[in-house]
Amino acid sequence: MQRFAFMIHPLKVKDIARKFPLANIMPESVLEGLFRRVPPLTVSKITGIRSATGAEAEGWFVACPMTARQMVELPEKVVLDKIIQTGRKAEELGAPLLGLGAFTAVVGDAGITVARALGIPVTTGNSYTVATALEGIEYAANLLGQDLQKSRIAVLGATGSIGKACARILASQGRDVELVGRDRVRLEELAAELRSAYGVPAAVSTDLSESLPRADVVVAVTSAIDAVVRPEDLKRGAIVCDVSRPRNVSVAVAEARDDVFVFEGGVIEVPGQVDFGFNFGFPPGTAYACMSETMILALENRYESFSLGRDLDVDKIREIQGLAAKHGFRLAGLRSFERAVTDEYIHRVRVASGRVKTPIFVSSS
Ligand SMILES: NC(=O)c1ccc[n+]([C@@H]2O[C@H](COP(=O)([O-])OP(=O)(O)OC[C@H]3O[C@@H](n4cnc5c(N)ncnc54)[C@H](OP(=O)(O)O)[C@@H]3O)[C@@H](O)[C@H]2O)c1
Repeated sequence: MQRFAFMIHPLKVKDIARKFPLANIMPESVLEGLFRRVPPLTVSKITGIRSATGAEAEGWFVACPMTARQMVELPEKVVLDKIIQTGRKAEELGAPLLGLGAFTAVVGDAGITVARALGIPVTTGNSYTVATALEGIEYAANLLGQDLQKSRIAVLGATGSIGKACARILASQGRDVELVGRDRVRLEELAAELRSAYGVPAAVSTDLSESLPRADVVVAVTSAIDAVVRPEDLKRGAIVCDVSRPRNVSVAVAEARDDVFVFEGGVIEVPGQVDFGFNFGFPPGTAYACMSETMILALENRYESFSLGRDLDVDKIREIQGLAAKHGFRLAGLRSFERAVTDEYIHRVRVASGRVKTPIFVSSS
């Protein structure tokens, strides 16, 4: 039996109620203040992961009691200390590998300092997240009949860990990528690298309202804590893969734009009869890609700091994709704003975006 731990944290204050229902009746500001004083905790035991090879794994969710907003706004040292303290909890439980979830992998240098401070290897899970985000856009483009080779693909958060690797791989496939972020100098550096390595134009933008209207496909991977993609900015018929947690795409897009196809990046089917012992909002048997990377490494007996920092190794992204297939992990059916994407929904988007002319769901009466 292989073992691992995975660090989670509440993205928003309301997520605290998933573990402590009483939190529902407390004001958010009070709760956030109280929560800061709570020590790291073991949330649940994870059981029933069984690889296609027959290997088995179990693990624990450990929680760092800070919201995404606190992780961004509190002094970096305070946040890193709490993450490291939570990592020690994983060590005490006997986990030989720790995966970092959501903002615990974003703060500071994306896991490097945390890995140095702990006695066990650490992975952000970002390599498999990149692989599955890119698989996701290929899959969605096929469903909708969109040719990616003729599409402008905007990567939001292109200077980040996941965004930079997505941009590098897309450019290596000759795709028309636009790099979007906040720091023009770092965007231009990446663009120069991609132009010289792959001969692509690699446009750059620091303005979402300028770049989104020309993007056929959007990979949203910023570390913004509030939604940054608004309905009015998106091009007609755009395909949007929202990898970010908290989400980058406003729920208003679902209400206002029936021609746009938004799906969650990195939702993975886990092999076996996995029981997470905790509801993090996904259908049974599925997990985030970053969680899945940690499980895959455990099943493979690869207790190593596989993905760390903001310069992911493209060969390792391909390697983890191969290991995922070997162990029976795969992209789950697409989800959009917490609901499974149905054939009917896809057809409605195809009609509303002008890709097909005739609605097929007509009444039989
Ligand atoms: N679905 C999954 O399985 C999964 C797995 C792992 C991570 N994630 C999520 O993926 C997201 C990105 O993670 P990461 O590790 O790549 O983070 P990261 O390395 O910190 O990169 C984030 C990028 O977003 C940019 N950014 C931040 N706020 C922005 C804004 N308001 N507008 C435009 N760009 C902005 C940053 O630019 P600056 O350099 O200017 O700050 C940076 O380029 C996070 O939300 C994380 O929780 C999801």
